Amino acid sequence: MALYEPHFMSHTANRGTSGGVASGDVTAPGPAPHGSLTEHGALRGQVLAGGYLIRTAMPGDAEALAALKLATFRATFLEAFRIPYPPADLALFEAESYGLAKVRAELADPSHMTWVVEKVGVVEKNGMVEQDNTPTAPLIAYAHIGPCKLPHPDVRPGEWELYQIYLLPTAQGAGLGKRLLATALDYMTAHPVIPQAGGRIWLGVWSGNAKARAFYVARGFAEVGEYRFPVGNWRDDELILRRDAAPA
Ligand SMILES: CC(C)(COP(=O)(O)OP(=O)(O)OC[C@H]1O[C@@H](n2cnc3c(N)ncnc32)[C@H](O)[C@@H]1OP(=O)(O)O)[C@@H](O)C(=O)NCCC(=O)NCCS
Repeated sequence: MALYEPHFMSHTANRGTSGGVASGDVTAPGPAPHGSLTEHGALRGQVLAGGYLIRTAMPGDAEALAALKLATFRATFLEAFRIPYPPADLALFEAESYGLAKVRAELADPSHMTWVVEKVGVVEKNGMVEQDNTPTAPLIAYAHIGPCKLPHPDVRPGEWELYQIYLLPTAQGAGLGKRLLATALDYMTAHPVIPQAGGRIWLGVWSGNAKARAFYVARGFAEVGEYRFPVGNWRDDELILRRDAAPA
C-alpha cells in the first residue's frame, strides 16, 4: 500500500493558519531557515494519499509529541530489539530525553525543526479529494533535526544532524518513512545553517538496526564512524552516517 502520492488539495481551515496549501506543497519552506515555527508556517504541510499530513510541529504538539517519542522509542528498542537496559538507566534516559520539558524546549529552539505526521479528515468534492486538516487520530510519526552534536572529528560547525525519525509500528513499511525523510533532507539541503558548511548531513543509528541502516544508505548516507550512545550508564553501540551531497 502506497501512502505517499501527494495529489490532494488541502484547506488549512483550522487552528489559526494563514492560508491554503497547494497540492503537493513541501513542508515548512519559510523565509528564514531558523525562524520560529510560526514563521515557518506551522500548518503548511504535505498531504499524502490516505489523508496523512506531514507538517512542522508547533508548541501545542508538545504533549502528543513527547508521548509519541516515548512510545516509538519503547516500540523500537524494548519491544523490537529487546535491548536489556537496566531499569534505572532506562528511567533516567526516558525522563531526560522524552520528558515534556525537554520536548517543549526542543520545539521552542529556533535551531531545531520537527515534522510530525497525523491523519487528517478528508472529504470528496466534485471528484477531487480534499482534506480539512482536522486531526482524526494522535500523531503517528515524527522527524527531528538540529545542529550536529555527534562525536566525530570531521563535524563542522553549522552542519545538520537528523536526530530522530520514528514511526509507530502500525505506520511502518508503507512508504511514509521515505516521505518523511525526504521532507527533512530536502529542508536541510535547502537551508544550510551557514552556507559555507557545505550541505553535509549527519545521523547516528544503532548498529543492530539493519532496516534503518539500509534505509539511510539507500538515500545517500555512508557509514563514517561509530560511538557509544549513553542510556543512563548503559552504552549502545552506534554508527555515525553522513550524506555528503544530495544524490543527483
Ligand atoms: C526506519 C523507518 C523510519 C522507515 O520508515 P518506513 O515507513 O517503515 O519505511 P518505508 O516504507 O518508507 O520504506 C523505506 C525502505 O525500507 C524498506 N523496508 C520497508 N519495510 C522493511 C522491512 N520490514 N525490512 C526491511 N526493509 C524494509 C523499503 O523497501 C524501502 O526501501 P526502498 O523502497 O528504497 O526499497 C521506520 O521503519 C521506523 O520508524 N522504524 C522504527 C524506528 C527506527 O528504527 N528509526 C530509525 C532510528 S535511527
